[in-house]
Amino acid sequence: MIFKKKRINKQISRDYGSGNVLVWELDDGTKTYNPEIQGLEVRFSGKNNTCYVYGSKTIFTNSLIIFNGDDSTFSIDNQTQKVDPGFAINNLVVFMNKGANVKIGKNFTCGGCDIVADNRGADIEIGDDCMFSKEIVIRSTDGHTITENSKKINPGKPVRIGNHCWFGMRCAVLKGVTIPDNCIVSFGAVVLSSLSAQVGNIIAGVPAKVVKSGVNWTRDNYDDFQ
Ligand SMILES: CC(C)(COP(=O)(O)OP(=O)(O)OC[C@H]1O[C@@H](n2cnc3c(N)ncnc32)[C@H](O)[C@@H]1OP(=O)(O)O)[C@@H](O)C(=O)NCCC(=O)NCCS
Repeated sequence: MIFKKKRINKQISRDYGSGNVLVWELDDGTKTYNPEIQGLEVRFSGKNNTCYVYGSKTIFTNSLIIFNGDDSTFSIDNQTQKVDPGFAINNLVVFMNKGANVKIGKNFTCGGCDIVADNRGADIEIGDDCMFSKEIVIRSTDGHTITENSKKINPGKPVRIGNHCWFGMRCAVLKGVTIPDNCIVSFGAVVLSSLSAQVGNIIAGVPAKVVKSGVNWTRDNYDDFQ
């Protein structure tokens, strides 16, 4: 289990009901409960769900976190890096089934990403300093059931994305995938759990394969990098 629920003692200012809470913790440790956060909508439809947003500088645009059941946790850490607001968290949509957990690390930036996390331990974890382009899909569940001889064969599985990964536009990462630190996922890649990648790989194609190794990347434009 990658998440621990923190005990919350402060009085809740707005009531989402049924033990649901949005916690915004600023850089100085001050916590506010169920605040309005510009650019971020949180929808609770079950009970005992917690949404943590850490950091005073986290900038959201058009983002939505949906809790579609009980006992789920979403957390996104603070942005300590000086990022241009244009590269902040835009169009992030997260949908969590019962008991699902999604954790996003520090300095995350995103042009647009749909995340769907399943229950039964199929959590999704994204490390620190990841840079996501637009129209990205990450799912730890197929969403519907495939049967073979009347037995279910496609359970949800966790997705783990390391630190400092760059996801190009329109890539998809499906159930059971692990992507190590410093990897680049190409435009249009469809990454399946059969991929076995190492730190500093470029991952491309459908289904995705490792096409280069021993690389790293920076947020600088090509001309600006010294
Ligand atoms: C991943 C990427 C950055 C790699 O660039 P690169 O290091 O110059 O890679 P190359 O062009 O040398 O390609 C290396 C190999 O990967 C393959 N490849 C690269 N991108 C691919 C893609 N999107 N789909 C399938 N194969 C791809 C190439 O065909 C080549 O294969 P080969 O060695 O058999 O010829 C680039 O291909 C890419 O996807 N760019 C778009 C990133 C993006 O979406 N940016 C949006 C702003 S964040």
